[in-house]
Amino acid sequence: MKLCQTTEQIERPKSKQCYQELCEVIPGGVNSPVRAFKGLGISPLVVERGAGDQIYDVDGNAYIDYCGSWGPLIHGHAHPEIVAAAQKRLAMGSTFGITTAIEEQLAREVVNLVPSIDKIRFVSSGTEATMSAVRLARGYTKRNLVVKFAGHYHGHADFFLVQAGSGVLGLTPTSSSAGIPEGIIQHTACLPFNDIEACRAFLLHPDHRHQVAAVIIEPIAGNIGCVPATTEFLQMLRKVTGEIGALLIFDEVITGFRVGLGGAQEMYGVTPDLTCFGKVIGGGFPAAAFGGRQDIMDLLAPLGTVYQGGTLSGNPVAMEAGLKSLKMLQVPGVYQELMRKTNIITEPLRKLFAAKDINACVQQVGSMFTIFFGATQVRNMSDVSQLDTTKFTEFFLYLFNEGVYIPPSQYEVWFVSMAHEEDNLMRTRDLILDYFA
Ligand SMILES: Cc1ncc(COP(=O)(O)O)c(C=O)c1O
Repeated sequence: MKLCQTTEQIERPKSKQCYQELCEVIPGGVNSPVRAFKGLGISPLVVERGAGDQIYDVDGNAYIDYCGSWGPLIHGHAHPEIVAAAQKRLAMGSTFGITTAIEEQLAREVVNLVPSIDKIRFVSSGTEATMSAVRLARGYTKRNLVVKFAGHYHGHADFFLVQAGSGVLGLTPTSSSAGIPEGIIQHTACLPFNDIEACRAFLLHPDHRHQVAAVIIEPIAGNIGCVPATTEFLQMLRKVTGEIGALLIFDEVITGFRVGLGGAQEMYGVTPDLTCFGKVIGGGFPAAAFGGRQDIMDLLAPLGTVYQGGTLSGNPVAMEAGLKSLKMLQVPGVYQELMRKTNIITEPLRKLFAAKDINACVQQVGSMFTIFFGATQVRNMSDVSQLDTTKFTEFFLYLFNEGVYIPPSQYEVWFVSMAHEEDNLMRTRDLILDYFA
């Protein structure tokens, strides 16, 4: 493996100054913690603009971007068609707090593309989508207990911020943030991902089977790096939730319209009761959604008794950008092209790992992938806990110094967009191969 500079080489005086000033008025200088580059030992990026597959910091340095705003930018930065659609709508007024016709267009698009969705409601963030879907599931089933999986992230609603308790199947997990009352997390169970027998036993246990309102899962986990569920695991969850009268919620905030027009549920052939969307559905604007079976969705106010709302929900500018983004994804061959572009990096790397017996691996689904250091396969949190984050940090800095920006954590997913150019993909590939050579 290459011996790398473990310090920063790029000149970024303005970025550093700007970050210091941000820290004076914003906690940690960031509006979302992962932007702070914690543990990487360098000042965070302060970005000025993006175009296509590149971003530019306030010092004018360019970076090939594989973070893509954590997933929404499947068409790259500032795509001219999306910008034009948003601008046109913006000139008509940015928000009304009144229904607009464009909401119906995006809703119908999703209903047509994803067979499990009879009705959908738009919100402004993935957090709102998952939080609202769980409230709806609780209202529908008249039960409280929510089951999630270790390492899965569903946004920052209180009841999601739990980590598995000491007992693998502990019903009382501990909170992973201060400020969360015990009484709230006692209604969340955190189970081991991809462990069919343990999860089946928990769900069917007489103490739980009548308590579980919903099982929520990222069908392809993206917040521990790219870790797909096994098909058998999802099939088991579908079957058992049906048997015990609980709802199955797929959190497709990352995977929706990313791994295919029908999302992960189409890929696996497993139909959830409710689905959460975010990221791609907003075309780079703050829009997200949850949707599913009509009999469940019609329980939402004003029709039903489950309250949910939002001042900027269904924002027309975001709807327009989202609609354009989804239309562009329906051009034949888009997902094959995304896969082809991504494989430019991942295929040679896989071959190299095998040929040289390197203790690392690439896990990929379509245009999302992670390079894991210190493991040849990652299936669950116990594999994740073995990863070599020191190596990752070195690798991150190596690429950063070469003008390649990847998500600043080992536990995240790289996203390839339609805007990624051949030259830049090949340059990235060569840099990575060189690193491992
Ligand atoms: C799978 C998943 N669900 C929910 C969320 C929360 O979305 P947001 O950050 O828009 O609130 C995220 C965010 O990354 C996510 O990856």
